[in-house]
Amino acid sequence: MKPSISTKLFVAVLASVLLVILSMGLTANWSFGRGFLGYLNEQGMQRMTPILPKLAAAYAHEGNWEFLRHNRDRWFEIMRPDRDEERMNPESRAMQTSDLTGAVLRLALLDEQKRQVVGYSGTRDDAYMRAVEVDGKTVGWLAVTPFQSVTEAGGERFQQYQLRASLAMGVLSLILAMLIAWWIARTLLDPVKRVAAATHRLAAGEYDSRVAVSSNDEVGQLARDFNQLAYTLERNERMRRDFMADVSHELRTPLSVLRGELEAIEDGVRTLDQTSMKSLQGEVGMLSKLVDDLYELSLADVGALTYRKTDCELNELLESSVAMFQERCTTRKLNLELKLPAQPLHLMADAKRLQQLFGNLMENSLRYTDEGGTLRINAASEADGLRIDFLDSGPGIEAEQLPRLFERFYRGEASRNRASGGAGLGLAICHSIALAHGGSLTADHSPLGGLWLTLRLPRNT
Ligand SMILES: Nc1ncnc2c1ncn2[C@@H]1O[C@H](COP(=O)(O)OP(=O)(O)OP(=O)(O)O)[C@@H](O)[C@H]1O
Ligand SMILES: [Mg+2]
Repeated sequence: MKPSISTKLFVAVLASVLLVILSMGLTANWSFGRGFLGYLNEQGMQRMTPILPKLAAAYAHEGNWEFLRHNRDRWFEIMRPDRDEERMNPESRAMQTSDLTGAVLRLALLDEQKRQVVGYSGTRDDAYMRAVEVDGKTVGWLAVTPFQSVTEAGGERFQQYQLRASLAMGVLSLILAMLIAWWIARTLLDPVKRVAAATHRLAAGEYDSRVAVSSNDEVGQLARDFNQLAYTLERNERMRRDFMADVSHELRTPLSVLRGELEAIEDGVRTLDQTSMKSLQGEVGMLSKLVDDLYELSLADVGALTYRKTDCELNELLESSVAMFQERCTTRKLNLELKLPAQPLHLMADAKRLQQLFGNLMENSLRYTDEGGTLRINAASEADGLRIDFLDSGPGIEAEQLPRLFERFYRGEASRNRASGGAGLGLAICHSIALAHGGSLTADHSPLGGLWLTLRLPRNT
């Protein structure tokens, strides 16, 4: 089994705490041995300096060391700092420190063969020694035993004490590491685990899985992004399902009408004459328009819709499109107003596609505007491109329908109820044509009471 992140965290924290404790212990040990004991030994050495000349003087006076053997009073008298010396030497306090640290008790006098005369009796080879010289001849040795040698037993006790302290620290660090790992796992890893679990569910196809966002840090951001991703996937999946349902529904309706009419003719209920032929042709025409529109949109989706852009003149394009609809507008008593600027409006565009776009919009106005209404088309040149407005009179559409207008198969109530209604692909195609030209198509409510569509196109694309 692989160790979990919590276990790894626990081990990492424990290891670092133990490492810090270990290095602190080693440093303390080292500084005690080198620093503190070294300082005490140094004090001892320093203490020797004023004693040496006094010893030499005493030896010169007495001739040998016998006066000091078994005479500890004299020995301590020699070692004691002089009153004059104290007065003259401002650093006399330092000397007193050396006395306080017991340096005097570790001092010993040896004769020239390094045999004990007086003082500390345990002097060994590891003692620091300085020669007592009289007239350039070594007559004896002053030795100070290093602190370590006299404190071996104490050192052992100290080490045992330290070992016990280290053990206690070890247990403490174990508890500390557990607490820290538990805390990190709770506050940091739990949200990550929640995101991981939700991702797992999402991958298995549960598009409604979401994570509760509990913090504002990176993990919170991760949760928010995850939710956004899940929402997008859910919406796309719903759109795909709706699209499939719409396509099959839209194909089935004209097909069943066709089948019904053909069966009626076969059964002799209807005769195959000009009228029925025309009706059949109409159904087939609707079917082919639907299939063509779907095909066009699917091409636009994969980016394979071919555009042949040439230098076009917008006024001409609009005039010819309007001319094609003029007659039908007159029949429906629709007042068609076209307002064009005096100067020509040149742009790089696919003329056929643009005319398809204009045609779709005018077709919609013809379908969804009450008789006696108006369709106003304005073209103008703007700083960053060209702008064409299509405004018509009522009826319009609800405000909440506006953003959905360019969705595939989206149809308003008007389109559903009227026999003239289409499949709801026209505006989707217009939108994709505008985008393919680097422009945009937006919808709003028109001051005339109907719909206001604005097409913006860059001059040269
Ligand atoms: N000029 C308009 N005035 C009022 N409503 C409109 C207008 N143009 C479009 N609509 C509404 O927007 C819906 C979508 O329009 P769109 O052109 O995409 O589809 P359609 O006209 O229903 O079908 P198709 O264009 O595919 O034959 C329409 O069903 C209609 O309800
Ligand atoms: Mg339409």
